[in-house]
Amino acid sequence: MASATYRNFTRILSSGIVITLVVGFTVSLSQAEEQVIKVPLGLPPIEFPEDNPPTVEKIALGKQLYFDKRLSRDNTISCASCHSPVKGYSNADQFATGFKGQKGGRNSPTVINAAYNKFHFWDGRAGSLEEQALGPIANPIEMNLTTKEAVERINAIPGYKKQFQKIFGSDATEENIAKAIATYERTILCGDAPYDRFKAGDKKALSESAQRGMQLFFGKAACSSCHSGPTFTDHAFHNIGVGMDAKEPDAGRKAISNLGGDHGSFKTPTVRDIARSAPYMHDGSLKTLKEVVEHYNKGGIPNEFLDEEIFKLNLTPQEVDDLVTFMKEGLTSSNYPEHKEPELP
Ligand code: HEC
Ligand code: HEC
Repeated sequence: MASATYRNFTRILSSGIVITLVVGFTVSLSQAEEQVIKVPLGLPPIEFPEDNPPTVEKIALGKQLYFDKRLSRDNTISCASCHSPVKGYSNADQFATGFKGQKGGRNSPTVINAAYNKFHFWDGRAGSLEEQALGPIANPIEMNLTTKEAVERINAIPGYKKQFQKIFGSDATEENIAKAIATYERTILCGDAPYDRFKAGDKKALSESAQRGMQLFFGKAACSSCHSGPTFTDHAFHNIGVGMDAKEPDAGRKAISNLGGDHGSFKTPTVRDIARSAPYMHDGSLKTLKEVVEHYNKGGIPNEFLDEEIFKLNLTPQEVDDLVTFMKEGLTSSNYPEHKEPELP
């Protein structure tokens, strides 16, 4: 809140409005921003970059770009192809399939609650959604269109050109395409799950099995030592022993940090609405939530870089089921943002 107020304050100062108006304006502006994106129960307010505040028009534009296949070389792939609303903003493939059926080596992560992520990608190589947004367009095995060509294509579509002029006061540029897409992504929010309502005092919100699962998640099974906070991530990297039996395991975070200890470490993903986005893990190697819990129960795949928080859990079959029920039932949001494909210009 303090930072939002400060941001509005500086924005008003820089637009040259006299100081006596500042207080009144600060309040009304931040209220307007809150109304633009409604944050569900259980999630904290979103912090927007100072130079990219949300507006209704910008969100609508970003949404069109997110679903627009013309941002790929052969007009067949959009962001939604790999981060689809009907598949938990991921896709059901083990590995992402992009331009001309090429496959990368990693599973599409969900973009649910990406607004809160401190790092993006499994190895955390992008810091902001703005920084991330153009990557897949240019990536030869994803959408395979240079950013220059993407800008030209967008500006050749009158309905887009008009919106960019209105929102950013200029034609589409790399920078404002990224800003629009990132702003739309910040509206893909999942909260208000039975777990949140249980925490808020509705003791009937969770079944008994889900309640036992919740206790295991935060207790004996120690899931919350990494899946912590409102979006169930510590924003850190861990080797939990996934894919370490491959011939050449993915180095994960190590390739970015150059720290030996980061070998095979990946970003802790959210587990909100996780039942929607199988298969799981950076390599899509686990097909169901039960397989995930069984992976943890056996202490992961042993390797010298294994995180110290990963150990044999000795869960009974009933406890395994309870944990799965907690995730399936307790963390599935009641107001899932099932966005429909917008009309494109
Ligand atoms: C061909 C499939 C594919 C397409 C198309 C695609 N992505 Fe992705 N996306 C991925 C994969 C795979 C990753 C993870 C890559 C990695 O970690 O190295 C990813 C990662 C991300 C992340 C980071 C999420 C996180 O939790 O770290 C965001 C955000 C994202 N993509 C947004 C987009 C946007 C916006 C577009 C369209 C401009 C897009 N993606 C197009 C497959 C795709
Ligand atoms: C030491 C930290 C840590 C602990 C403890 C931990 N996790 Fe994870 N979790 C991660 C990381 C890191 C990943 C991604 C690993 C990868 O892809 O290699 C992950 C992935 C997952 C996924 C897959 C998410 C997706 O989008 O693919 C689920 C589900 C999950 N964890 C649930 C649990 C449960 C349930 C527990 C407790 C039994 C638990 N985790 C304990 C760090 C942890």
